[in-house]
Amino acid sequence: MTLGQTVRSSVGQKILMAVSGIMLSLFLVVHGIGNSMTFFGSKAFNAYAEKLHSLGFLVPLFELGLLAVFLLHIFLGLTLFLQNNQARPVRYQMEKSSGGRTPGSRTMPYTGVVILIFLVVHLLNFHFTDHSIPISDIVRNVLRQPIYALFYLSALAVVALHISHGFWSLFQSLGINHPKYNATLRSGSLGAALALSAVFMLIPLCTLLIKEFLR
Ligand code: HEM
Repeated sequence: MTLGQTVRSSVGQKILMAVSGIMLSLFLVVHGIGNSMTFFGSKAFNAYAEKLHSLGFLVPLFELGLLAVFLLHIFLGLTLFLQNNQARPVRYQMEKSSGGRTPGSRTMPYTGVVILIFLVVHLLNFHFTDHSIPISDIVRNVLRQPIYALFYLSALAVVALHISHGFWSLFQSLGINHPKYNATLRSGSLGAALALSAVFMLIPLCTLLIKEFLR
């Protein structure tokens, strides 16, 4: 099967959605671990960022790969949304046997768009910026502004909703689905998503509330 045929087949779409979802989740876990350096002070956070940047050509290579995975995920998400809207027999995430629709499943395309908008603002804030300034100062200068802190907190709540359903869908796509365990899988997905988002949420909260944070 060529890549084009895989993308067009419903099974291929499910697999690619699951694989791209796993890759993006892994990125988020690694990004969360890296960002948790902020809790150890500006020196630790800047040292971590410098170590990352010292990886040279691997950094743009990784960024290109990540961009490709994001684009694939968005493309597949849109395709599945349109298919579901046309009420075709092939449905993703919403099969009755797998427990019906939830706020997470219903809002997937919309939370996806919010995350996309968040990412554009986020990259303008922290990536496409003046890197002669230490990264701790860049993060602090943005997140100590209440409007940005609120924006980050709201976007991170949306990220939690999106990935909680993403994790659950992943189990369905991998065939991990049994009436006996579905409730546990659902609450496990929600718990993992909330725990991951909480790490990120603590950063704007601490920057806003603790004067010495990232100083
Ligand atoms: C409070 C929460 C967050 C903080 C403080 C934070 C911090 C940062 C920083 C400092 C960078 C710039 C790295 C650099 O260019 O040196 C960055 C890049 C990035 N962040 Fe975040 N981030 C947060 C949440 C998120 C979330 C929730 C996502 C995804 C939904 C995300 C996705 C990205 C991406 C894709 C990049 C670019 C990666 C790269 O250039 O290699 N971030 N983030």
